[in-house]
Amino acid sequence: MNKEKYITKVGQDFALASELLKKGEVVAIPTETVYGLAANALNESAVLKIFETKKRPSFNPLIIHVSSIEDFHKYAYVNNQFIYDLADRFSPGPITFLLPKKQTVLDVVTSGLPSVAIRIPAQKLTLELLQNIDFPLAAPSANLFGYVSPTNSKHVLDNLGGKIPYILDGGNCSVGVESTIISFINNEPEILRYGGVTLEEIEKVIGKTKTYNNDLAFKPHAPGMLKNHYATVKPLYLGTKEEFFANYNSESTALISFTGNIETRASVFLLSKNGILKEAAANLFSIMRDIDNLRNIERIFAIYLPNEGLGFAINDRLKRASSNN
Ligand code: TXA
Ligand code: MG
Repeated sequence: MNKEKYITKVGQDFALASELLKKGEVVAIPTETVYGLAANALNESAVLKIFETKKRPSFNPLIIHVSSIEDFHKYAYVNNQFIYDLADRFSPGPITFLLPKKQTVLDVVTSGLPSVAIRIPAQKLTLELLQNIDFPLAAPSANLFGYVSPTNSKHVLDNLGGKIPYILDGGNCSVGVESTIISFINNEPEILRYGGVTLEEIEKVIGKTKTYNNDLAFKPHAPGMLKNHYATVKPLYLGTKEEFFANYNSESTALISFTGNIETRASVFLLSKNGILKEAAANLFSIMRDIDNLRNIERIFAIYLPNEGLGFAINDRLKRASSNN
């Protein structure tokens, strides 16, 4: 057990962050998607601290973060031209490649799987940090396991204050939902998690792409694709506008809606006043956390977003958040 108690500092000192990481400490880092809880991926006890800190089950493998495509070759077999094509277009950025792993990757990182998830984050401070250290960073989202992912340093502090020495503060995450995960483990590329790079964008580069059926998300085919993830403390229900008005229209409900004007007794939270999916994604997790902190609200109802572009990733997160209800 990690019994240390810290006074968690928050700042932009990436030299301090790299010093702590070199010593085997766990540090929260900003990425363009969500904040990560990072440790030296080559140091087993440092990686184990990640699991302890966020109470994550050890069968749920971690993504490793590197600063260049050259680094992919150190840890993975880059076995398909499409990987280069996608990385050229989207990396650094919110895309993670699932590739056959090399011996250099520790079993604790991959939960013993023969594959490794790897990505290059597009966040200035974190890229600088990665360029300053000679090891990759293993990092899951910096929330307690099962809760909503953090998109600013305050979210991290709320969940992990006292448990980690430092939060590298990069402000609000520009993308706001996690990276898209694309697997090259089988002969055909397959999207395992919808995220910041859309299916449409990927298909423009590599053509028609298989997507994993998320409704079967209990199967450990991709272990972390567990349902009941991203869950708010307050019960969250997901459905159509009609279902909302039929069953949930009351003062004690918070309504999450993409955009538009809705006349209701509920408290309305618009993901994007201007109806822009990118803006909706960037606001989603913050709004979920804000509502969780409101005293007078007992439940959350979210209206499905259009199933296109980032709407897929947003609906996926809402589905998982609502899967108990
Ligand atoms: O945007 C992101 O990807 C953020 C930032 C911090 O980079 N990270 C993130 O990590 O979302 P995490 O741990 O919350 O989600 C990673 C997902 C999990 O569902 C995990 O099961 C899956 O990736 N994953 C990692 N390695 C895998 C592997 N070898 N095989 C199958 N799934 C894997
Ligand atoms: Mg996560």
